[in-house]
Amino acid sequence: MKHLLSINDLSVDDIETIFTTAAEMHDVQRREVKKLPALRGRTVINLFFEDSTRTRSSFEIAGKWLSADTINITGKGSSTSKGESLRDTVLTVCAMGVDALVMRHHASGSAQQVSEWVDAVVINAGDGTHEHPTQALLDAYALQQRLGSLEGRRIAVVGDLTHSRVFRSNVLCLTKLGADVTVVAPPTLMPSGVEAWSKSAGFATSYDLDQVLPTADAVMMLRVQRERMNGAFFPTAREYTVRYGLTRDRLAALKPDTPILHPGPMNRGLEIAADAADAAQSLVLDQVSAGVAVRMSVLYHLLAGEESA
Ligand code: NCD
Repeated sequence: MKHLLSINDLSVDDIETIFTTAAEMHDVQRREVKKLPALRGRTVINLFFEDSTRTRSSFEIAGKWLSADTINITGKGSSTSKGESLRDTVLTVCAMGVDALVMRHHASGSAQQVSEWVDAVVINAGDGTHEHPTQALLDAYALQQRLGSLEGRRIAVVGDLTHSRVFRSNVLCLTKLGADVTVVAPPTLMPSGVEAWSKSAGFATSYDLDQVLPTADAVMMLRVQRERMNGAFFPTAREYTVRYGLTRDRLAALKPDTPILHPGPMNRGLEIAADAADAAQSLVLDQVSAGVAVRMSVLYHLLAGEESA
C-alpha cells in the first residue's frame, strides 16, 4: 500500500499491524522524552483546506515525535486564496521534495485525485463527505483498548450521517473488524443509497435511537455538520436533541460502562449532553490521545516501510 485514501485500502491484517505499532507508539507518548528517530530526514506536509483542531495537530505531533520535518499549509494562508488550482498547489509543494502529503479538502475524491498527480505518499485526512480513514482507525483502536476484540460487538453510530466522512470510514472499519454496526439518523440525514450499501456491507439502519441504545455495546455520536447543510434537515435544534441527542435520560438508559465516542468537535447540548460527553464512560479524550499514536503508526508504516522495522 502506497497511500491511505480509504479504509478499503486496508486488509484486516493491515489494520491489526497498524494497531500493534500504535500500541508501541502509545507507550512513547507516555514517556517524558517523546522522540523516535524513525522518520529522520523525511518531510511531511499537512495541507489543510478545511478547518481542523485535532486531526491537523495530531498529525503534526505524530510526525515530530517520529523526527520527521513537518510543515502546515492551510487553504486560507496559501496561494489557493489567490486563485491557484489544487493541482498547481500540490505540484508546487511536492517539487520541494516532500515525502508525504496529509491532506484535508472539501471535495470528495480529492485525496485520490492528488495521489494520481504526485509521487509523495498521500494520506487522506478528510475529503468532503467521503472518508476520513485515520479517524476510523483511531476510533476502533480506542474502542478496542476499552472493550477488547470488536468481533460481534454491537456499535451504534448516530447522527448526521449524510454529511459525515467519519461515518463512512467507521462503517467500513468496524464491519471489517467484525462488529455488528447499526447506524441511526433522522430520515433527512440518512444518506441516499444507504439501504443498498447496508445490505452489501452488512450493517443495519434505524430511525429509532431509543430502540437501539439499550442493547448497544458502544455508542458513537456524530456532529451535526451545519456548515455542510444548505437547507433545513430538521425542524429545530431542540427537536433534533429530543429524538437523536445523547441526552442525560438516554445516558441513563445505556448499559453501565458502555463507551461513548465522539470524533469532535462536539456540539454540546445538541447531539450530546455535557453529562454524556464528560461521563466516566466517555472515550472522547482517549480518542484524541489514540489519534496521535495511530497517526504515528500510519506515518511509520507508509514512510519507514516494513524493512526498516
Ligand atoms: C471530523 C471531521 O472533520 O470529519 N472531525 C475530526 O476529524 N475529528 C468530524 C466533524 O467535523 O464533525
